Amino acid sequence: MRKIDMPPEAEYIINKLESKGFKSYIVGGCVRDSIMGIKPHDYDITTSAKPEDVKKIFSHTFDTGIKHGTVTVVINKKNYEVTTFRIDGDYEDFRHPKGVSFTSDINKDLLRRDFTMNAIAYNTKEGYIDIFGGIDDIKNKIIRGVGSPEERFREDALRMLRAVRFSAQTDFEIETETKKALIDNVYLIKNISAERIRDELIKLLVSGNLKKIPLLWETGLLEQISKRLYDSIKNNENMIALQLNMCDKKIPALFAILTQFIAPKDIKDELYFYKFDNKTLEQIICINSIINKNVLSDDYNVRLMASNIGVDNAYIFYSVKMAMGDKNADEAKNILYKIIERNDCIFLKQMKITGKDIISMGIPAGKRVGEILSYLLNIVIRTPEMNDYDVLKNIVIKNFINI
Ligand code: CTP
Repeated sequence: MRKIDMPPEAEYIINKLESKGFKSYIVGGCVRDSIMGIKPHDYDITTSAKPEDVKKIFSHTFDTGIKHGTVTVVINKKNYEVTTFRIDGDYEDFRHPKGVSFTSDINKDLLRRDFTMNAIAYNTKEGYIDIFGGIDDIKNKIIRGVGSPEERFREDALRMLRAVRFSAQTDFEIETETKKALIDNVYLIKNISAERIRDELIKLLVSGNLKKIPLLWETGLLEQISKRLYDSIKNNENMIALQLNMCDKKIPALFAILTQFIAPKDIKDELYFYKFDNKTLEQIICINSIINKNVLSDDYNVRLMASNIGVDNAYIFYSVKMAMGDKNADEAKNILYKIIERNDCIFLKQMKITGKDIISMGIPAGKRVGEILSYLLNIVIRTPEMNDYDVLKNIVIKNFINI
């Protein structure tokens, strides 16, 4: 097995800890990704040093999850999480260990991890510590629970959704016993917070893996996460998987597709559950409300759409409709690019006449001014060349001022 080329800062932290007599390795996702030839997005370090030792050894640290043994070490302005080898105590409510105890044995630390591919440690001196055959499982494209998968899932029920998400990201198969344990314990996902479920769902949907996204409903997970959502997609599962696969990998687009069959009266309740930020929530609701409309791909209708729902939402809408097979959506998206490039007027703030101008023409300040501006905007959206001060002024004089 090839040596892992880790960042100099991680190497420095490991060497420094070792020089003080502590064992130290990179572990988890970064080792898995390196073996798979993927560039890791971060490097977690595990060590026999206790958090107080880590804080003494490095000059720039801050506490991250001190209860769980994690200290962040800052080297060259980069953050590295350094966690003491630990054994998790009994788990409460299928998500939190009651307490953790520290150990000086790396093997015990690896034993508490979810899947064999995530339970490999590495340092340059010793190479790989792979007591559960994680490297072979990666080679054979298998996701296998460490030791008893049932116990691993009962410790942290989110791991069931992680199994499905990893399967979609890597295109690996979930090993038979692990899959059986998942299906048997699927109801435990109800103990997991909406935010953690949402974040895993996002990673799963972003994978776009047509073959593996269906595991979400085939395993029974989706029915436990939201019966309403599950019931709404029943009989349309294949189509949804295909649309998720075809769509731009943007969160509002993916969730608008996933929730397209939820009744309009229930959509807000369904989406509130996932605790999205306000902007994302607003975008999904907006796309959902028009998801069954056919796309009209002429300049006027594209300007009108962007004016009504905003430019970002219009892009998302057209991506969703492209994924849904609307023949006009691609053209509409290209037209929208050109509209933005030309800076065609689609919003009041782009108009060459303002409310103040209209008031100065003798219209009293108030609701009427707003109505006149909307009337003018409509004209300009239809015919952008009319966005000219004199032209618009004449329209106001002709239509709204009694001479
Ligand atoms: N882990 C675990 N059970 C969990 C979450 C994490 O055993 N529910 C362990 C695994 O060893 C995992 C490591 O903690 O590799 C780091 O977890 P995390 O950063 O959440 O995920 P990664 O495996 O690094 O993968 P990704 O970054 O893609 O989420």
